[in-house]
Amino acid sequence: MDERAIGMFDSGFGGLSVARALIDLAPNEDIVYVGDTGRYPYGPRPLGEVRDYSLQIADWLADDCGVKIIVVACNTASAAALDLLQSKIDVPVVGVIEPGSRALLKATQSGRVGVIGTVGTISSGAYQREVADLDPEKHLTCAACPGFVEFVERGEVESEQLAVLAERLLAPLKEARIDSLLLGCTHYPFLSRTLLEVMGRDVVLVSSADETAFEVRRILNESGLAAARKGIGKKAFYSSGDTRWFHDMGSMLFGEDLGEVIPLRWEDYE
Ligand code: DGL
Repeated sequence: MDERAIGMFDSGFGGLSVARALIDLAPNEDIVYVGDTGRYPYGPRPLGEVRDYSLQIADWLADDCGVKIIVVACNTASAAALDLLQSKIDVPVVGVIEPGSRALLKATQSGRVGVIGTVGTISSGAYQREVADLDPEKHLTCAACPGFVEFVERGEVESEQLAVLAERLLAPLKEARIDSLLLGCTHYPFLSRTLLEVMGRDVVLVSSADETAFEVRRILNESGLAAARKGIGKKAFYSSGDTRWFHDMGSMLFGEDLGEVIPLRWEDYE
């Protein structure tokens, strides 16, 4: 049994979808969440830059916060840096790509599946490799969705403009007649209603958030790292950008008041 906190990070608010799922599954765990909104979005950045940011955040979570496990609650950061973090950080590091891919393959009946994500995630080929490794028989169509993250970060999770963009970006997936679509960006579950309307009710939306939360709980239980305490764990939210914005937008997306958001200044750690 281990009472240390779970560390998680994302470029911004997207990882809150993973935090939500994890809190529902393991409410007694303490959580330290970093939203790197001072440097968001990660999606359009070169993967090397995302790798450097991810390593800095993971080091901070492990060394300064003393967390027992790190959840890379961001597909772009998982695609860019998971292997590096797993080799450099002394606590277990969990990404979202493998759990999400497994869930996608479990959901499909027809074998025609899709993944949407940021430009960084899709162009890294991480999902293409993972799905091919897990089951080379499945037919995967991927699409990058530039612009979706910005809609979420503006709190605009349903609008005419979003629907028009979604129609355009999701067209290749509709053409490929997929029956299951993995939301390969932790921001996208906040857009589920629009995505479902565009794809049609027969397509199953798979969220990497839920699957990642199950994976984290499995690792905690199997490695004796789960907290023994009863009751509700403490949550600490950090933002490297505007903390008031993080509080207001984050609380709206999270569906609960985040409480005080603590400023994080990377200059202090360089
Ligand atoms: N939420 C992040 C992901 O899962 C990316 C958002 C961004 O572009 O910063 O990929």
